Amino acid sequence: MVALPPGTRETNITRLIAPRPIALISTVSTDGAVNAAPFSFFTPVRYSPPTLCFSIGTKKHSSQHGYQPGLTEESPDLPKDTWRNLCDTNDFVMNFVSADLLEAVIVTNKRWPYGVDEIAKSGLGVEASTKIKAPRIREAKLALECVVAKTVDLGGQIVVFGDVVQVHADPQILDEDGKVNCLKADPLMHCFEDLFVKMGDSIRRTLDRYNF
Ligand SMILES: Cc1cc2nc3c(=O)[nH]c(=O)nc-3n(C[C@H](O)[C@H](O)[C@H](O)COP(=O)(O)O)c2cc1C
Repeated sequence: MVALPPGTRETNITRLIAPRPIALISTVSTDGAVNAAPFSFFTPVRYSPPTLCFSIGTKKHSSQHGYQPGLTEESPDLPKDTWRNLCDTNDFVMNFVSADLLEAVIVTNKRWPYGVDEIAKSGLGVEASTKIKAPRIREAKLALECVVAKTVDLGGQIVVFGDVVQVHADPQILDEDGKVNCLKADPLMHCFEDLFVKMGDSIRRTLDRYNF
């Protein structure tokens, strides 16, 4: 092993902890403008009742990491539209789309002005959620309706915790016992910068005891 110098591109944690599935998070403003953006900093944090969290940076922060080129050091460090909507309406949908929708995901990552319907721009559609205000993405294989439970400002990034209040799944990704099988969802995953991966080989190994 070699000790990598701190604070370099090589030690960027997005490169170290990868690949990560991509969630398209949809939100809505108080005046009804819908929005979607890709996020890969997310994880489940409570099994039951189900809670997950994801982390939002600022627009300039994403630009510095190559996600949204174009902002300069002088640009104001504005909150992302997702965060503005969460502050307004307090809920969101975590949508999972299959790898063939990569191009649509890229469109939602562009720097659209606040209020622009990025979902329509990407060619995707929306369906009304059943328990929350934010709509879900019609083409998603899996959609988790979430209500914001708590936010933690880490400085530079805000972690949003969401209680999952309703799950929608495409029947095609369900096993015969009705459980979601991620292999069937063909999830899109991100390695770093312009490198994405699809699900590869899987390994089945019976656990002596699944004790979570
Ligand atoms: C693959 C991928 C993963 C991303 N993950 C995150 C993330 O976890 N957190 C974040 O703040 N931005 C992330 N971004 C950048 C946001 O999606 C981007 O800033 C987006 O335009 C924000 O949109 P909004 O202003 O409509 O909320 C990611 C972008 C890509 C392409």
